Amino acid sequence: MDEYAHPGQPDKSGKPSSYARVSLSRIMTVVDVNLYGTVHGGVIMRFMDEVAGACAARHSSGTAVTAAIDEITFLEPVRVGDLVHVYAEVNWTGRSSMEVGARMLAERWDRADTEPVEVATAYLVMVGIDAHGRPRPIRPVLPETDADQRRWREAEIRRAHRLSRRDAIQAHRGGERGEVTYGDVPA
Ligand SMILES: CC(C)(COP(=O)(O)OP(=O)(O)OC[C@H]1O[C@@H](n2cnc3c(N)ncnc32)[C@H](O)[C@@H]1OP(=O)(O)O)[C@@H](O)C(=O)NCCC(=O)NCCS
Repeated sequence: MDEYAHPGQPDKSGKPSSYARVSLSRIMTVVDVNLYGTVHGGVIMRFMDEVAGACAARHSSGTAVTAAIDEITFLEPVRVGDLVHVYAEVNWTGRSSMEVGARMLAERWDRADTEPVEVATAYLVMVGIDAHGRPRPIRPVLPETDADQRRWREAEIRRAHRLSRRDAIQAHRGGERGEVTYGDVPA
């Protein structure tokens, strides 16, 4: 049953961009660092993924999983003691998938008088799933502001690129997804 209409159809059940906006903060500790003493990229990715997951779950009123993460960019190093904040918002919705934009800012522990620094950004494709782990229809997001409209249009461009890249690679392989055997790399 298609509980929610697809964007583009008249629909009253959509939620505005602000509805599922989520932010979460935490202080980075010594267990988060890499060999160089700055915070590990994987720790940053995980935190962004968690916040994006909460945002997607709120928007879609149910479980959502990460299908893809792209354009993750690490702009500045994060250090132990920094107070980091991740902000996430649904940029775009399809039938069962949504793109969530996430942004991480850091307050430097030793520079409390300065503005927070943008340290990482990412776009995550989250898919609403049912109890069997299968994609389920999600409600559309309704962009509110000019910035939300811009994010929607840019998300459409990224989706078109993602799907055409995937299709082109599959076509190159003769329609196969590419076999991965033990010890092989999925390249
Ligand atoms: C994500 C998942 C449910 C998709 O299942 P699937 O059978 O491939 O589903 P579909 O092909 O019908 O795709 C469902 C939607 O996801 C989108 N999608 C799937 N993979 C995608 C990718 N790599 N990039 C962009 N979009 C993707 C499809 O375009 C489709 O969007 P739409 O419904 O809005 O048009 C499935 O691949 C999965 O369970 N993956 C593991 C997720 C996981 O464990 N994540 C880590 C922990 S949260």
